[in-house]
Amino acid sequence: MRKLSLTVNGERHDIDAEDSATLLDVLRLKLFLTGTKSNCLEAECGVCTVLIDGRAINSCITLAAQCEGADIRTIEGMADGDKLHALQQSFIECDAVQCGYCIPGMIMTAAGLLNEKPNPSFEEIQEGLCGTLCRCTGYTKIVQAVQHAAQDGRVRQ
Ligand code: FES
Ligand code: FES
Repeated sequence: MRKLSLTVNGERHDIDAEDSATLLDVLRLKLFLTGTKSNCLEAECGVCTVLIDGRAINSCITLAAQCEGADIRTIEGMADGDKLHALQQSFIECDAVQCGYCIPGMIMTAAGLLNEKPNPSFEEIQEGLCGTLCRCTGYTKIVQAVQHAAQDGRVRQ
C-alpha cells in the first residue's frame, strides 16, 4: 500500500492504494466516481477514458501513482453546477445517446480531441473517437454531436 494524493475534478483526495492500483480502480472503488465505466481493462474499448492534464487517457491501464500532481478530470467534473458541459448538451441535442454506457468515455475522448484540435473535420472526429466503442448508436450521431459542440465554439475546458 502507498499513500496517494490525487486531484480529481479540482478536489484533492488523500487515499491509501495498492501499488498496482489503476486510476480506474481508485476512481470507482475509492472515490466512488462511477461515471467512468469499466469494461475490457486492456485499452480496447475506451469506456474508462478520463482527462489527465487535458489529454484523454485510458484509466484502466494507467497506474494511479503515475497521476499524482496531475489535473484529473472525470465525467462528473464536466458540468458547471447545473450547467452541462457543451459536449454533454450537444449529445442530448443531437440525440446521440442510447443505452449510455459508452457516453462518459465518448465525451471525455471528445474533450481531449477538442483540446488538441478545436475545430476538427467530420473525418478527424471519426478518427479521434475510433478507440471508443459503442454497441448502440452506429456512431454517426455521436460524431455529429462532437462537431456540433465544436462548431458552436461552445467547448471550454
Ligand atoms: S475499460 Fe479501459 S479501455 Fe476498456
Ligand atoms: S450508447 Fe450504448 S454503448 Fe454507446
